[in-house]
Order: sequence, then structure tokens, then C-alpha cells
Amino acid sequence: MFKTGIFTAASFAVFTGIVAFFSGTPISKAADIDARKLYMTHCKTCHGENGKPTELGQGLEARDFTDAAWQAKATDEQIVKQINDGTPEKMMPFKEKLTPDEIKALVPVVRSFGNK
Ligand code: HEC
Repeated sequence: MFKTGIFTAASFAVFTGIVAFFSGTPISKAADIDARKLYMTHCKTCHGENGKPTELGQGLEARDFTDAAWQAKATDEQIVKQINDGTPEKMMPFKEKLTPDEIKALVPVVRSFGNK
């Protein structure tokens, strides 16, 4: 029941994110909530609330997600892979913690920091 809810919400967020991306409209708040919440729960400690690395993140050499050059270079596949596998001693892998749909739903959140 709980899992199904998350799954549906995450899929919806991905879908809405893709639609918003291609239509150029801002991602609606209601649909964005779950993926953003995941980010705030699991990623904020290092990558910061607005994509700028925290002190902890900087110490580990985390990327600034607001960097346009990085946004242009990084593919969605690379972002998904990084969240899945992490980097030893820098970022923990999330493939055991999050579902594939939750991980995909985080891509538009990471991307959203570049649109500033
Ligand atoms: C313990 C701190 C920490 C947490 C928590 C963390 N990360 Fe990271 N992340 C890092 C560090 C450090 C790097 C740089 C790794 C490297 O240089 O290989 C990184 C790299 C990345 C990259 C690749 C950037 C690039 O260089 O191409 C992405 C995307 C990313 N993280 C997303 C996330 C997401 C999404 C979450 C939450 C699910 C998350 N991270 C949680 C520390 C963290």
C-alpha cells in the first residue's frame, strides 16, 4: 500500500517533470513535492537545499548543481548512475534505499537547480 503510493507519486513526478521540461512550463508544486522531499531527506546534507554544496559537501568535493557548464555536460543517465552507485568514500549508493522510480524522479530536481 505504502510502496504503491510512493511508486505512483514518483512516476507521476517523473512524467510531469518531462512534460514540464519539454513544454518549458515550471514544474507544478503539487507534482513536485515527493521528489523534492526525497532530495531534502537524502541529498540536502551534502548537496544543499538549492543545489549548492554544503560545507560537508564541499569537503567531499561535491559538485555545484547550479553550475550551467556541468548541467550542460551531465546526462540524465549519468545522474541516475551516480545516485544508484555513488562514489566510494564520497557519496553513498542509493540503489538499496530508493526505488528506480524514486531515483529517476530525482533527476528533474537536480536539473531544477540549473534553471536559475
Ligand atoms: C554524504 C554526502 C552526499 C550525499 C548524502 C549525497 N551526495 Fe551526491 N555527491 C557527493 C559527492 C562528494 C559527490 C562527488 C563525487 C565524485 O566526485 O565522484 C557527489 C556527486 C553527485 C552527483 C554527480 C555530480 C557530477 O560530478 O557529475 C550527483 C548527480 C549527485 N551526487 C546526486 C545526489 C543525489 C540526488 C543525492 C540524494 C539521493 C545525493 N547526491 C546524496 C556527496 C553526497
